[in-house]
Amino acid sequence: MSSQGSARTVVWGTGNVGRAAIRAVDAHPDLDLAGVIVHNPDKVGKDAGELADLDRSLGVAATADVDAALAEADAVVYAASGEVRPVEALADINKAIRVGACVVTPSVYAMYDPRSAPPELRDPVLAAIADGGGSLFVSGIDPGWGNDILPILATGLASSIDQVRCQEIFDYSTYDQPDSVRYLVGMGQPMDYLPPMVAPGVPTMVWGGQLRLIARALGVELDEVRETLLRRPLESSVETAAMGTFEAGNQGALRFEVQGVVDGEPLIVIEHVTRIHPSCATDWPMPPDGGDGAHKVIIEGRPRIEINIEATDEGGNRSAGGNATAVGRLVNAIPWLRAAGPGIYDALDVPLSPAVGKLRRKASA
Ligand SMILES: NC(=O)c1ccc[n+]([C@@H]2O[C@H](COP(=O)([O-])OP(=O)(O)OC[C@H]3O[C@@H](n4cnc5c(N)ncnc54)[C@H](OP(=O)(O)O)[C@@H]3O)[C@@H](O)[C@H]2O)c1
Repeated sequence: MSSQGSARTVVWGTGNVGRAAIRAVDAHPDLDLAGVIVHNPDKVGKDAGELADLDRSLGVAATADVDAALAEADAVVYAASGEVRPVEALADINKAIRVGACVVTPSVYAMYDPRSAPPELRDPVLAAIADGGGSLFVSGIDPGWGNDILPILATGLASSIDQVRCQEIFDYSTYDQPDSVRYLVGMGQPMDYLPPMVAPGVPTMVWGGQLRLIARALGVELDEVRETLLRRPLESSVETAAMGTFEAGNQGALRFEVQGVVDGEPLIVIEHVTRIHPSCATDWPMPPDGGDGAHKVIIEGRPRIEINIEATDEGGNRSAGGNATAVGRLVNAIPWLRAAGPGIYDALDVPLSPAVGKLRRKASA
């Protein structure tokens, strides 16, 4: 690990997040793409530019040799899946921290607010930091900046606040992740199927840390975290280009809230409205321009403040746009993390820095 100059940065995993991470590292003036670690054997030896859908070679061949790739790393963007393999993901992350790298990742939901993370997850990270001198910052968009620094920033513009509400409103029909959409989120399943993503306690595990970050920033204590859940069946069968048919009568939309209760009232709320087709649950909130999806922050109070985020990437895709902003938050944090030194950092620690040196420095599409 070098202590100055450009940060030699390794991207680990080349799915939705990893693709965007390769592009973001390549475009960052203070970072050098030093390696790409892949799990899929078919990707070994492929150039990072090809894996990131760039129109040029980046001169970095993907490898499955984790130790060799990490040996020279100052920073690691860990973009391998974590929701289905959290223990393995954290072991990978700790390995990178042990070689002294600063690690940024969206993959471990229980670590978004490290202070409220279970000790059995946090303690091994602290041990790896003590041994190797690396650091960790876990973030994304939702959970992530859409329900930590953005609402917190907006509260700074208010005179009085009655409620802070963060919303994700998404139509998943173009989201090419059939396993997640059908089984984790339950779209197209019979109405007596309980999707694992909204099983009791799971939303609190994923988004409870975000409520605590907002509460901490506002100087309030949460009495408790509550969950609500509504689901709707499709009134007629719908076809999706990416994932085939979803039958009438089966789940077509779900809406849930994770509520941070202050003085007995849900004053900090993270809400998700998710559909497989715009024809389902039309009385629930829709994306502001009728597109595939948006993230919103609503500060109820005086004044009432509403912010809509509609990011797009990879040919107008809103999921890709959201992922790319998650990546931006993480990759752009690396120079700050290197300067900050060893430790676990959260969204209240890591500033959102302006894009110095990036104006007109455009990554190829
Ligand atoms: N909070 C947020 O805003 C946010 C947003 C998006 C994603 N996420 C999280 O970020 C992570 C990545 O998401 P994604 O959409 O990029 O997922 P993805 O498209 O499914 O890609 C995940 C990558 O993980 C690697 N992988 C799969 N199985 C593996 C294994 N057994 N061992 C090692 N690597 C394995 C594969 O890498 P190779 O292709 O290189 O072989 C795969 O491409 C997930 O945990 C997701 O929950 C969070």
